[in-house]
Amino acid sequence: MATLLGISGSLRKGSLNTALLKAAAGLPAEGYALQTAGIHGIPLFDGDLEEAEGIPPAVAALKEKIIAADGVILFTPEYNNGIPGAFKNAIDWLSRPSSDMAKVFGNKPFALVGASPGNFGTLLSQNAWLSVLHTLGCRTFSEKRLMVSRAHTLFDSKGNLTDEATAKRLGELLAAFARFSLS
Ligand code: FNR
Repeated sequence: MATLLGISGSLRKGSLNTALLKAAAGLPAEGYALQTAGIHGIPLFDGDLEEAEGIPPAVAALKEKIIAADGVILFTPEYNNGIPGAFKNAIDWLSRPSSDMAKVFGNKPFALVGASPGNFGTLLSQNAWLSVLHTLGCRTFSEKRLMVSRAHTLFDSKGNLTDEATAKRLGELLAAFARFSLS
């Protein structure tokens, strides 16, 4: 049984990526348990703040969740064909101090999924994450990909995923990533 952690990289209440993460958590789980997390409460990275106060509590808590997980899935939005600053900022904090980097990220299975109202479903943001995850020493999952395009048409007004094809692909990715995380 793999313990997976899904992190939404959007701060928005009505986030499509958080909705996708919630949909993932609601799927029948075979061979894994999925926990969810977000990036709220993480300040902008500032080396002076780090020196004065150390690692912020929200960062320390998320680090512990990552360490405890067998695999981590980033639910990433895309801004201007790249990684949204708030999500990158969170990962930058999580990589501090650098002496903890191996403990948090080293050889840790990481998968990427993302949702956007556009036609390319966060393709470029996911690609941009690969070099970041490589730098952190993660083991990236490439067996399946999920770029949810036209995502605003796939959820109801309460944020429930109504598109069966997307739910099926999401479930297949999670099951494959769970196997990868334990391998
Ligand atoms: C966007 N959006 C966007 N979408 C996309 O597919 N490719 C892109 O390059 C961009 N660029 C972009 C820049 C900025 C500054 C904003 C605010 C938005 C649209 C984006 O995908 C949309 O707002 C999503 O709903 C964001 O994800 P969440 O918050 O719904 O999870």
